[in-house]
Amino acid sequence: MNKRDSEALAACFAERGYSIQEKEQDADIILLNTCSVRDGAEHKAVGKMQMLIAQARLHKEKKIFGIMGCAAQVLGESLVHDLPGIHLVIGTHRYHRIPEYLEALLKDSSKVIVDCSGITEKPVSFQNHLLQRVSPNTIQASAFVNIMHGCNQYCTYCIVPYTRGHEFSRSIEEIVHECEALAKEGIKEIILLGQIVTNFGKREIHVSEDGKTPFVQLLDAIHEIEGIERIRFTAPHPKGYGDDLIESYQRLPKLCQSAHIPVQSGSNRILKEMHRGYTGEHFLEILSKLRNVQPSMGIATDIIVGFPGETDEDFQKTLELVRKARFDNAFLFKYSPREGTPAAKMPNQVPMRIKEERHAELMRVVNELSAEIFQQMIGKTVEVLVEGPSRRNPNRLQGRSRCNKIVLFEGDKDWIGTIRRFRITRSGQYSLYGEEVKN
Ligand code: 5AD
Ligand code: SF4
Repeated sequence: MNKRDSEALAACFAERGYSIQEKEQDADIILLNTCSVRDGAEHKAVGKMQMLIAQARLHKEKKIFGIMGCAAQVLGESLVHDLPGIHLVIGTHRYHRIPEYLEALLKDSSKVIVDCSGITEKPVSFQNHLLQRVSPNTIQASAFVNIMHGCNQYCTYCIVPYTRGHEFSRSIEEIVHECEALAKEGIKEIILLGQIVTNFGKREIHVSEDGKTPFVQLLDAIHEIEGIERIRFTAPHPKGYGDDLIESYQRLPKLCQSAHIPVQSGSNRILKEMHRGYTGEHFLEILSKLRNVQPSMGIATDIIVGFPGETDEDFQKTLELVRKARFDNAFLFKYSPREGTPAAKMPNQVPMRIKEERHAELMRVVNELSAEIFQQMIGKTVEVLVEGPSRRNPNRLQGRSRCNKIVLFEGDKDWIGTIRRFRITRSGQYSLYGEEVKN
């Protein structure tokens, strides 16, 4: 979500005649987009800003510094104290005002502007046309499209409902319009974004007569768009995987065979304490239904270890679930208390040492299982959307298979943005290597 917000803002500045710098040192204005989902992310953001300000001081450079995103939203005014030299603190609902604030600051850099208002209302930036688009002048294969903002689920560990506000969905019409424009620019893959995308349109749009939830109605509508060849989304909630969504994987050929479904824990007691609204059994049933309609489905998840009160027995339940679920990939987090959330005040907080032990043990199991899945891909042929040069080795290109695995290969730069077939020749920890298959 932050990545997309940053891209959109960059495009908005480019349109106003600013240029985007590759290196921070070269910029006159530095805007840092921040996350506060875990304490580590928040500290990293504040530390980075402190370093940037100190560097500019050292070199006697006059720069404008702004901080945006969730950490700015929760920390607000206090950042003016903690970050002497900051010019702008801007909350998640106020991005549409950034250009105007920066222009004022360029005229008078002795000012400090803090605007973190409007958190529970419909985000105004949501309506702003400029913030809905990606930069049209870069060759891109896929584009993020915001479909909803905020979250009303209030999982007890999570700060998102407090930093992004109430759920608010755009209309199907507006989203389709944006996707059509992206398709005309050559975008082949749409990645729908929201904190809880499966709740899309819950309040605004009726379930259809044939039982389709608004989210599935949206998938249907995007599926119709000529030029769009792949649809993905993130992040869903397990309770959104009703039969209508599961059937979509069979019905809609453009919907990729991949899903990132956060499970968070394998213990029903902990899931209840987390306010997740499902059990481990229910979660596993969803996976088996999905694999039933699409056997090649790539499934990823998020898991938190060391939630308050998590016993060894609870943790064993998580290990058990992971073994049964056979995730292609899992993102593991040590529980991080976030001020203002119910879990931060729960008794029986788990000591860091135990969180670390559980994290390491779970990581071993997850990696072992995913290595098996990656191994099994060797010799198979997959369809890949070519994204661009590999991050590690710029002589290689990378893309993604329909089951969301990174595939690395040697090829021509003009393959970027095209869909090709590759035979998998070997597997790494998080990626596959392939050779093009010519028809
Ligand atoms: N502590 C640790 N992990 C968290 N997540 C969200 N909040 C916390 C927290 N307080 C994780 C969840 C979520 C992912 C984006 O971050 O697993 O799915
Ligand atoms: Fe946070 Fe996701 Fe739960 Fe919403 S559904 S409160 S974003 S973890």
